[in-house]
Amino acid sequence: MNQSKIKFPKNFLWGGATAANQMEGGYLEGGKGLNIADVLPGGKERLKVLKEPGFNFEIDKEKYSYPNHEGIDFYHRYKEDIALFAEMGFKVYRMSIAWSRIFPNGNELEPNEEGLAFYDRVFDELYKYGIEPVVTISHYEMPLNLVKEYGGWRSREVITYFERYVNAIFNRYKGKVKYWMTFNEINSALHFPIMSMGFSIEKGEDEYQPIFQAFHHQFVASSLAVKACHEIIPEAKIGSMIIAAPVYSYDCNPENVLYAMEEERIFNYFCGDVQVRGEYPSFMKRFFKKHHISLDIHDGDLRLIKEHRVDYIGLSYYMSLTEKKDKTGLDSTPGNLLEGVKNRFLKASDWGWEIDPIGLRIVLNKLYDRYRVPLFVVENGLGAYDKVEEDGSINDDYRIDYLRSHVEAMREAIDDGVDLMGYTSWGCIDLVSASTGEFSKRYGFIYVDKHDDGRGTMKRLKKKSFYWYKNVIESNGEVL
Ligand code: BG6
Repeated sequence: MNQSKIKFPKNFLWGGATAANQMEGGYLEGGKGLNIADVLPGGKERLKVLKEPGFNFEIDKEKYSYPNHEGIDFYHRYKEDIALFAEMGFKVYRMSIAWSRIFPNGNELEPNEEGLAFYDRVFDELYKYGIEPVVTISHYEMPLNLVKEYGGWRSREVITYFERYVNAIFNRYKGKVKYWMTFNEINSALHFPIMSMGFSIEKGEDEYQPIFQAFHHQFVASSLAVKACHEIIPEAKIGSMIIAAPVYSYDCNPENVLYAMEEERIFNYFCGDVQVRGEYPSFMKRFFKKHHISLDIHDGDLRLIKEHRVDYIGLSYYMSLTEKKDKTGLDSTPGNLLEGVKNRFLKASDWGWEIDPIGLRIVLNKLYDRYRVPLFVVENGLGAYDKVEEDGSINDDYRIDYLRSHVEAMREAIDDGVDLMGYTSWGCIDLVSASTGEFSKRYGFIYVDKHDDGRGTMKRLKKKSFYWYKNVIESNGEVL
């Protein structure tokens, strides 16, 4: 039988994704307060510096640069950028709201009007071109005051401030935003709590206890956001957002298979189970016992979590992970805030992230088999060095190859039966990298003339992939 390829659904949401802290700039404009991203130093050492116990959350311009402060100046150039997104035919644009633009210190009683008005202008500009915003409520951008005064999500009090923030934005943007997500890559905190939970591990402190308590606070906050969203904007959809990375066993030794399964459950499924199924998974009981974790859960928390579950799962996919119980003598492979062992079947990006389009098909199937809710790939892309030729062209065929193979993998997953809502490629315009604070790690279809040493005119240039993606969207994924 001659089987023709399955098509992407007619209403598939094609677009691109960014986060406020990595591109807006204007870090002290419009009444914005400092946030956690404003104190992250730039450069390849970023994660190492942040992982040192006792990171002090202060800006030290003598010692470090702070590329997030200026970003790519979207704060002033959003009209130009949105026009370019429209030229590519974006149906949706995933962006985040910087919490500290709306509540500069996090704990004010009233929101900052200038901050609210900025996002009104951005949404209006998007609608001018028929682009639907997909908004992440918290993308590594917690107000710094909540970090310093309350220890970030360690504190239950932060739930109240988050609730105030979500109520303010739902009420303000109820006519403008139909797609929301609560916490970006909520599961990333398992390995790295600073950016999403707003605290570091103290010297000698056992990391699991505060991390899992903070997770609990975020789960309660997420359910309160889901509840508020459904009440204030009944027609809207609100999702969770996780890093999705299938975990492979290094070999067929059952010990390693079991180890990979356990890693995958904790990493991929723990947060999903709570946010989508509405309950702590049974395997966590053993984990909590083993690690002497005892959670402070208040009356009503578990009911709230059960009753107010997300409508869909947003996910980022960059790579798979390969795991072995005993890693002695094996090379490790760096990843998106993760680390596994090297997979000899895979090639890696310039930053060592292993490229595995089949892994995307695998993880989409696994998530859909488990949860049966729509999935949305809200991040995927290749961070690479780009070269501007003398004639101004940028021939990023490597990026096109990467994206093509991942789009193909999504099509296969849809053919497998997965309900996939859309695809927003990460860093559709070059921006500051989250893990290294570099401009040189570029993901965009649009090049931004800005460099790690601070030079650059901020001029925007269209890469070869810009035209490629335009065709992909125009043909609804037929022409790859
Ligand atoms: C995800 C984040 O971890 O991956 C983004 O949600 C981040 O904020 C992206 O930028 C790519 O990672 P990086 O470190 O290459 O910027």
